[in-house]
Amino acid sequence: MHVADHPLVAHKLTTLRDARTDSPTFRRLADELVTLLAYEATRAIRVESVEVTTPVATTMGVKLADPRPLVVPILRAGLGMLDGMVRLLPTAEVGFLGMIRDENTLQVSTYADRVPPDLTGRQVFVLDPMLATGGTLSDAIDLLLARGATDVTAICLLAAPEGVNRLRAAYDGRSVEVSVVTAGLDERLNEKGYIVPGLGDAGDRLYGVV
Ligand code: URA
Repeated sequence: MHVADHPLVAHKLTTLRDARTDSPTFRRLADELVTLLAYEATRAIRVESVEVTTPVATTMGVKLADPRPLVVPILRAGLGMLDGMVRLLPTAEVGFLGMIRDENTLQVSTYADRVPPDLTGRQVFVLDPMLATGGTLSDAIDLLLARGATDVTAICLLAAPEGVNRLRAAYDGRSVEVSVVTAGLDERLNEKGYIVPGLGDAGDRLYGVV
């Protein structure tokens, strides 16, 4: 679990939280925030050594290792994080998972699965703005692990302790690397499963209420 501790992250998050922030501004800020979080989240991305010839000399550098990392936004709200992520990782492959949470039962169901069947040896970055109960994210991570991924990093704009605890209970002590990078760890969930103080419904704020 890594909470990004940076004044620019805190500044953008504060404006995202503000109920008066309109959708175009929210989308732009979420995009910028994800790029900052992606910088933290990719700290352990795998690279391999390459030789590079500068105008002056030949030296050693690095390039991203194969297989390429996979980025998986969870629809719908995770889509608002995709551009900010691939700006930093333009060579990543992108898969999609459509997951929806029943507002009453809080149960999660998968309605779209465009993730490669074999993820052996892949580093995967899951984009989900709100780690609330952790139900959606743990279902997504379970699917990725079942396909062979052993290294999954979730990037979330905000997290609640309930969701973090659920992920800890599910993955701590297992032989897989699961981490969460977020801009803020909030107080709690309310009775409707919203993060408090949070920022409201991330999908609605990104795209307008449907
Ligand atoms: N999903 C959201 O969009 N917002 C929350 O606060 C919790 C879950």
